[in-house]
Amino acid sequence: MPALINPSILSADFVNLERDLRAIATADFVHVDVMDNHFVPNLTLGLPVVTRIAEVSTLPLDVHLMIEDADRWAPEYAAAGAASVTFHAEATQAPVRLARELRSRGIRAGIALRPASPVEPLLDLLPEFDMLLVMTVEPGFGGQSFIEGTLPKIRRARAALDESGAATWIQVDGGVSRDTIGRIAQAGANVFVAGSAVYGAPDVAAEIAALRDLADA
Ligand code: DX5
Ligand code: ZN
Repeated sequence: MPALINPSILSADFVNLERDLRAIATADFVHVDVMDNHFVPNLTLGLPVVTRIAEVSTLPLDVHLMIEDADRWAPEYAAAGAASVTFHAEATQAPVRLARELRSRGIRAGIALRPASPVEPLLDLLPEFDMLLVMTVEPGFGGQSFIEGTLPKIRRARAALDESGAATWIQVDGGVSRDTIGRIAQAGANVFVAGSAVYGAPDVAAEIAALRDLADA
């Protein structure tokens, strides 16, 4: 499958969101970072804003929940119009039950791991999820530098998926740029979130195309 590029609107201008959504029309999904100032030390946006983004965006929504009590809140984001909802393994009591709940609503279910969280406990369960999100920075902020030590985790997840034949996508989020995307793709990721690299570029559409080409090279 060709690489998917999901720009993160965390690096967009929040008072010009509609304009900044139009700017990424050639991407695959719009990545929406929801933070609650508890799971991570930052606060972004919640259900009312996600509902409006879903109404306005021409791209499907890839919602990344960095919030506590995902079991309570993730289904609400499905109802708000997300095409994919990713919750953190560290913030749920029952990840498989929650993923099944999201899938029963006809959307994709993703599970995310902080850089220091091991993937091993999840490897046999990956077919229960549409996506594994390997965080490649500590969640909370855009513009941080890629943590090289996350690459072996991506490789192990890819090997387990190849062995099981599951179609689960591997997404990476944090520090994705022209400099890093090639080796992240080599490690086995196929969905790339990029915030500052895309929105900080002089030509947003050209940056999306360049990242896609480098990932597929
Ligand atoms: C960080 C967010 C990311 C963030 C990535 O916690 O989950 O989606 O926007 O930003 P960059 O691409 O700048 O590292
Ligand atoms: Zn994110």
